[in-house]
Amino acid sequence: MLLLAPVLILWIQISQMNGKQKEHFPEFLLLQEGENFTMYCNSSSILSSLQWYKQRPGCSPVLLMILAKSGEVKTQQRLTGRFGESRQRSSLHLAAAQLSDAGTYFCAEA
Ligand SMILES: *[C@@H]1O[C@H](CO)[C@@H](O)[C@H](O)[C@H]1NC(C)=O
Ligand SMILES: *[C@@H]1O[C@H](CO)[C@@H](O)[C@H](O)[C@H]1NC(C)=O
Repeated sequence: MLLLAPVLILWIQISQMNGKQKEHFPEFLLLQEGENFTMYCNSSSILSSLQWYKQRPGCSPVLLMILAKSGEVKTQQRLTGRFGESRQRSSLHLAAAQLSDAGTYFCAEA
């Protein structure tokens, strides 16, 4: 019998507005192990680069990837980050969620 544990994910978009950091609505969700999930960060302005971070409970944030070219796609194990052609949108796709994926994911504009 296969028992699937829930994986708690939180994702937050952080943007710089006139030098001040602004957090957008955090989104919570519970995934089942093995499920796929896509997080999005959207911006009203054109970004020179966008960074995705992951923070595990009680740990410091870890940089997952930096996307800097329009249309760029980067893969890191089960994570795929995409930067939109217009550099206003990015998605982070998590394939086959595992318990170790639980944590807070956030994107930061640069
Ligand atoms: C960002 O854009 C994606 C793709 O169009 C959309 O599905 C998502 O809801 C948007 N997210 C926010 C927070 O606006
Ligand atoms: C989950 O993601 C993987 C890799 O991105 C993909 O190959 C697979 O088709 C996806 N599965 C579902 C159910 O969307």
